[in-house]
Amino acid sequence: MKNKIAIIILFIIFIILLILINNHYTKKETTVFKEENLFIKEKYYIAKNLNKYKAYASMFPETKIKDVIAIINTNANKTAYKDVKKADLTKGILILVNKYHYLEKDYIPSSLTYLNEEYAYKDKQILEEVNEAFKEMYQDALKDNIKFYITSAYRSYSYQKSLYSKYLLTYGEEYTNTISAYPGYSEHQTGLAIDILSENVKMRDFKNTKAFAWLKENSYKYGFILRYPENKTYLTGYAFEPWHYRYVGKQVALQIKDENITFDEYYAYYLDN
Ligand code: DAL
Ligand code: ZN
Repeated sequence: MKNKIAIIILFIIFIILLILINNHYTKKETTVFKEENLFIKEKYYIAKNLNKYKAYASMFPETKIKDVIAIINTNANKTAYKDVKKADLTKGILILVNKYHYLEKDYIPSSLTYLNEEYAYKDKQILEEVNEAFKEMYQDALKDNIKFYITSAYRSYSYQKSLYSKYLLTYGEEYTNTISAYPGYSEHQTGLAIDILSENVKMRDFKNTKAFAWLKENSYKYGFILRYPENKTYLTGYAFEPWHYRYVGKQVALQIKDENITFDEYYAYYLDN
C-alpha cells in the first residue's frame, strides 16, 4: 500500500515538473524562438544583424532565409552610393570597395608598378604583389596553350569618373550602374583588380572562351577571384563580369571558391563580424 502511495506521489511530481517545463516558455516566446532559429542555424548568420534579418524576412516573405542573410550581411538592401561607409584601408589586400564602401578621391595605392606589355595594354599599373601573382598565372596558362592579357588594371578616381560619365551618356543611369562603378566606388582604384580578355574576343563573348574556362578553374591558385559572378547581381550590384578578377591572396581565394560565396559575403562574415 505504502509503495502504491509513493508511486502515485512520484507520478504527480513528474506531471507537475512536465507542466512547469512546458510553461517555461509562453506560446509567443516559443514562436519567436522558432523564428529566430531559422536564422541562427544558417552558416553565415551574424548575431548583430538578427533584427534586420527579421524585418527583411517579414517584408519579403518569399525570399529564402539563406538569401535574406546574404542580402543583409552585404548591405544589398541599402541604397547604393548613398548609404555608405569609407573603405577600411587597414584591411590591406582584403579591402572591400563596393557600392557601400568608397575610397577618397585622392586615394592612390602605394607600390604601383607598370605591367609588362607582353601581357597588358600599354601604361597599365597594378600593385606589385598582384603583378607577381598574375605573371605566374599567365606563364602557367601559356603552358596549357591558353593566352590572355590585361586590358584594365589600376584606375585613378578621375579615370573612373570619365569612364562612368561615358557610359552614362551612352546607356543611362540604371544600366550604367550595373556595369560601371561610380567614381570612388571602383575596385580598380585599389590596384587589386584587373580585367582580362583574350585576343580578338569581345568582352561579351569572353565567357565562352577557353581562357575563361581556364581562369574559372585555376585563378584561385594564384590568389584571384571572379569578383562579379553570374547570378550574384542581387548581392554585388553588378552584372556578370567574366573578365573582372580581384586579387585577395591564395588562401582567401581558395576559401571563397570552396564556399562559393562573393567577396562581399566573405568580408561581412569573416572580416567585419
Ligand atoms: N566594372 C566594374 C564594376 C568597375 O567599374 O569597377
Ligand atoms: Zn573590372
